[in-house]
Amino acid sequence: MAREGAALVTGATRGIGAAIATTLASEGWPVGVNFRSDAAGAERVIAAIEQRGGQALAVQGDVSDPDAADRLCAQVEERFGPVMVLVNNAGVRADNLSPQIDDEDWRLVLDTNLSGPFRLIRRALRPMMRARFGRVINIASIVGQRANPGQANYAASKAGLIGLTKTVAAEVARRGVTVNAVAPGLVQTELAAGVDEQRFFEAVPARRAGTPEEVAACVRFLASEEASYVTGSTLTVDGGLTA
Ligand SMILES: NC(=O)c1ccc[n+]([C@@H]2O[C@H](COP(=O)([O-])OP(=O)(O)OC[C@H]3O[C@@H](n4cnc5c(N)ncnc54)[C@H](OP(=O)(O)O)[C@@H]3O)[C@@H](O)[C@H]2O)c1
Repeated sequence: MAREGAALVTGATRGIGAAIATTLASEGWPVGVNFRSDAAGAERVIAAIEQRGGQALAVQGDVSDPDAADRLCAQVEERFGPVMVLVNNAGVRADNLSPQIDDEDWRLVLDTNLSGPFRLIRRALRPMMRARFGRVINIASIVGQRANPGQANYAASKAGLIGLTKTVAAEVARRGVTVNAVAPGLVQTELAAGVDEQRFFEAVPARRAGTPEEVAACVRFLASEEASYVTGSTLTVDGGLTA
């Protein structure tokens, strides 16, 4: 189905972001595929989208850079029209026990996982409200909802993202714009490398990690017309871990 406007997915070179970009393209959205450093990864995602008849554009930018939001949205607008679906997916971790987290690792994680999404939301909302349609989907984590020792900076960023989601959702609900979060548990990607899987799987009722495609399916729903009355919510996708 041809769409008015476009989707923008941050951190879409691999993992969950790549799966989301591909899924939204298959729903008919032209997609801005954001990357920070991995231009080849972005090109691979775009080639896969185009092979299936979709449209995509690589947009370079570090979301922790205060100027990135405007640049990324402007590039997508120029090629495909306004961003109607914004997926804040780019995220990093810099784990340590709280006494050992230095200012640099605190700032890196908060700037990337929370301030970046805030600036993109701020930039993208006005055209969405004008269009009386918009979908903002923030990729949070179950670590934003319950303790995970060694991830205080990451937990603070993801809990902040959930709070941001709820408040912005309430601000724009009457304009036809929805704002939701998705909170994955452990998903097989580079970010999850190093996790003690055996110990982890014992705690997960599904006894396995999730796939990027399983997270992307949740985003597909939240981005759809059918999800128009779902806003301010956090959709957990964790194989039952936090049930
Ligand atoms: N994997 C999990 O178990 C899990 C669980 C819960 C939540 N999540 C969340 O899901 C999201 C995606 O995670 P993932 O596992 O797919 O991670 P990943 O495989 O490490 O991929 C991260 C992506 O983010 C990009 N990125 C990182 N910093 C960036 C920045 N400053 N600006 C722009 N792009 C940036 C990377 O691009 P470059 O390569 O170009 O730097 C890459 O495309 C994150 O928000 C993460 O916190 C993941």
